[in-house]
Amino acid sequence: MKRILVTGGAGYIGSHTLVELAEAGYDFVVVDNLCNSNKESLHRVAKIIGREVPFFKVDIRDKDGLSKVLDEYSCDACIHFAGLKAVGESVAKPYEYYENNIGGTLVLIDVLKQHNCKNIIFSSSATVYGNPAVIPITEECPKGKCTNPYGQTKSMLEEIFMDIQKADPQWNIVLLRYFNPIGAHKSGTIGENPNGIPNNLMPYITQVAVGKRKELGVFGNDYDTPDGTGVRDYIHVVDLAKGHVCALHVLQNGCGLSIYNLGTGRGYSVLDVINAFVKVNGVDVPYSIKPRREGDIATCYSDPTKAERELGWKAQFGIEDMCRDAWLFQKNNPEGY
Ligand code: NAD
Ligand code: UD1
Repeated sequence: MKRILVTGGAGYIGSHTLVELAEAGYDFVVVDNLCNSNKESLHRVAKIIGREVPFFKVDIRDKDGLSKVLDEYSCDACIHFAGLKAVGESVAKPYEYYENNIGGTLVLIDVLKQHNCKNIIFSSSATVYGNPAVIPITEECPKGKCTNPYGQTKSMLEEIFMDIQKADPQWNIVLLRYFNPIGAHKSGTIGENPNGIPNNLMPYITQVAVGKRKELGVFGNDYDTPDGTGVRDYIHVVDLAKGHVCALHVLQNGCGLSIYNLGTGRGYSVLDVINAFVKVNGVDVPYSIKPRREGDIATCYSDPTKAERELGWKAQFGIEDMCRDAWLFQKNNPEGY
């Protein structure tokens, strides 16, 4: 495999994956409608990898636009990051989420098929496990009830991909279920750059640390966890990005349909993350305990051994690396890109 179509490549995980793809010797072409990102991320990637990033501002729902890109740049596989991802917004705007995430992916699948590119890696999420039936979560853990339209789009798209691969075994499809990606490239030049008030823990912490927000609200300290706060499997975004490169190798070998958890297998509580952040960075993160956030679960962490066994992939970075790198990006880019 030589060239990869990367949808949503200007975003947080996409931009980090471009760096790892380049490092592994792949060519790529990026399509993104920039609805939740900025072209500057691609300029920064270009600086890191020492060459320009071929980019088209195209919406994946635009069939002709996508087709033109693939006519010009024939691709062997697609890594599909493009999608809307804000849980709260998805509750308020379900139609937009189904139309963009599911509608967009259906158009993408059609265009890929027409260009005889039947290899795809899809960004799924641990959210498909709902309130997990077993911890640590293996890929065999039954999928659970998603409490919001965002999660539903991931779960439904997984089913769609399974049906498509069953009907046409020429497709090779890898569903990657990400746990909680945080951190940034070690250069501190690319990272997570949320619009408005961050929904997720780490960008909120870094914005408090840099003085953009007064204090962090810790959503509940009465869960059935060691310190009462929610426990998650945080994974360094660079480890996650490398997981995609490993997944390309199994696609290439004709994997049919495969599912992998990408996590570290370790759970950290909200207070663990705050304490690690304060310790490695020597900055203050004022916080106060708030009520639980609706839809949250107590504990979620992966069993990542299938990915290690079959992809030869294992997360290398620890929680302190994640906190250090997230802070470096925020400190260097207090206003984002
Ligand atoms: P992101 O918002 O930074 O990146 C997504 C990119 O897709 C953005 O650049 C956005 O502009 C683009 N996009 C959205 N709709 C599009 C469309 N119709 N056409 C073209 N481009 C479009 O998000 P991210 O954190 O990098 O996430 C990447 C993928 O991973 C998403 O599918 C997300 O749901 C999934 N995921 C993310 C997390 C996480 O915690 N960040 C966890 C699990 C799964
Ligand atoms: C959230 C989404 C999930 C999505 C994932 C990655 C919800 C209910 N779930 O997961 O669908 O796949 O992000 O994008 O939104 N926390 C605080 N204060 C904050 C923010 C978070 O205490 O300001 C706590 C949360 O209660 C949780 C932990 O920090 O215990 C992690 O939260 P977050 O980063 O939002 O990730 P998830 O809830 O795991």
